[in-house]
Amino acid sequence: MQIKRSFRFIFSLVLAISLVWVSLNPVNSLATALTSQGVQNTFPSSETNLVAQAKVGEFVLPPLPYAYDALAPYIDSETMTFHHDKHHAGYVKNLNGAISKHPELKGKSVEALLRDLSNLPEDIRSTVRNNGGGHANHTMFWEIMTPDSQGQPTGPIASAINDTFGDFETFKQEFNTAGKKRFGSGWAWLVLTKDGTLEVTSTANQDSPFLDGNYPIMGNDVWEHAYYLNYQNRRGDYLDAWWSVVNWEEVNQRFEQAQDSLKS
Ligand SMILES: [Fe+2]
Repeated sequence: MQIKRSFRFIFSLVLAISLVWVSLNPVNSLATALTSQGVQNTFPSSETNLVAQAKVGEFVLPPLPYAYDALAPYIDSETMTFHHDKHHAGYVKNLNGAISKHPELKGKSVEALLRDLSNLPEDIRSTVRNNGGGHANHTMFWEIMTPDSQGQPTGPIASAINDTFGDFETFKQEFNTAGKKRFGSGWAWLVLTKDGTLEVTSTANQDSPFLDGNYPIMGNDVWEHAYYLNYQNRRGDYLDAWWSVVNWEEVNQRFEQAQDSLKS
């Protein structure tokens, strides 16, 4: 009987201490509990990672503005996950690595770095070209897509497309042809040139239109990593399907930014 009473007392004491500990440390206790169950504790760790990353370099992987599966069936969830979490994250990491070798460059925007590439230190020039380009291109890419696409251009970009290309269908065909004809990896673009005209172009690898002084209004990624899991070798089908997820509101915003950049 005495042993039972002692056991009950010790058990109650341990329980009381545990309850006090949990009430004082709710986040840590939750994190420990989730981790011990094999559940990824995304909130505190991702926040910490973002802060740590920002301190180490200048550039941070932006979160997707929608869920990984939001653009399905046009772009599948697995493609979006690898594309954003692995490929884009890799460009950001490599870009930060290059900038850390030349602290005088910290604080410059990726656009400024790309526009002034020929004046960057030679030892990081190609790394910034590839990975700075990769960061700028993909940051734009996530933003100009949405699960709530309007389907057709709206606002000033719609008028500008009609004035330049005749109509939306003609523009679409020209843009898709640029993507189909890009040998290997690269991008199809609608840019505002230095002369203030709209133009469909294509670049190889992760080359940004900023390298040539043009402003990338919208672009489609035709690297195989952007479509191969779902479309395999059918790049044309991917290019056709992509128009169903274009965010024309964002494209209009970028058109405005492009026009502003000509004034400055
Ligand atoms: Fe990509």
